[in-house]
Amino acid sequence: MKGIILAGGTGTRLHPATLAVSKQLLPVNDKPMIYYPLSVLMLAGVRDVLIISTAFDLPHFRRLLGDGGHIGLRIDYAEQNAPNGIAEAFTIGADHIGDDSVALILGDNIYHGHSFSDVLDENARDVRGCVLFGYSVRDPERYGIAEVDPFGRILSIEEKPAHPKSDKAVTGLYFYDNDVIEIARNLRPSARGELEITDVNRIYLERGQARLVDLGRGFAWLDTGTPQSLLAAGHYVHTLEERQGVRIACLEEIALRMGFIDADACYRLGELISNSEYGRYVMSVAASEQTFATALERDFERDEVALT
Ligand code: G1P
Repeated sequence: MKGIILAGGTGTRLHPATLAVSKQLLPVNDKPMIYYPLSVLMLAGVRDVLIISTAFDLPHFRRLLGDGGHIGLRIDYAEQNAPNGIAEAFTIGADHIGDDSVALILGDNIYHGHSFSDVLDENARDVRGCVLFGYSVRDPERYGIAEVDPFGRILSIEEKPAHPKSDKAVTGLYFYDNDVIEIARNLRPSARGELEITDVNRIYLERGQARLVDLGRGFAWLDTGTPQSLLAAGHYVHTLEERQGVRIACLEEIALRMGFIDADACYRLGELISNSEYGRYVMSVAASEQTFATALERDFERDEVALT
């Protein structure tokens, strides 16, 4: 499966904070916002990622993440010239997707929850049609909303409905089979002039090929659209990181745990930014993995000796 992060937009609700910097590069606690969606793709096992943004912002993303090789990824970049809608990601990214399936994530969506990697792994395998991820919200008129029957089957999907039929928001993470390219090519702009992701989802729904995975109330799907919600998201991350001593969306750690890089490479990445707590965390994660590996090796050698 290929991955796409859509990180365009002008972030007008965050002005003046986003006048000179892309919203998706603003910090959420200790790391740039885009780390969070990128970590979701990595946890889904995706290693080929396309970042779509504006011509102005792309150089900054490139400076931050490069070609992704340091964390065992391949990251490419593409430009969205105008805010033509989320679904344009599939026509811009058609070559990147090739004949594969694709996971699209919005660059400002933050997910956190127990066993999320299992949920991702289960649903990323052999995608047929589309897989959407639902979350109950207090203000459904702000989102794409799915009406779901008691068995979890989707009955309807509407974009920002004035009279929502449910409180189940369709969040900004979507898995699609390869048909999505053709579907996106044939879309017409909506009344607000955008190629709507909700129209893509509705086509899959009409084909009987749309599935919604409910993330449940124990899960966090956080908003970052306003100064207040951005700060609240930062507080959430800070609270958990302080309490547990682990870091959320630490790309180097995830790359190590997923087997994309080894402990030595991970350690060196931490060293490069060792003046920060984040950098020292990466080094400590790598060091404990190295100690573990050395202990295993020692046990193995001892057993070998015992056998001879
Ligand atoms: C977009 C989608 C909407 C989805 C939301 C999730 O809305 O159009 O369906 O629920 O992302 O973040 P936007 O952020 O463009 O208002």
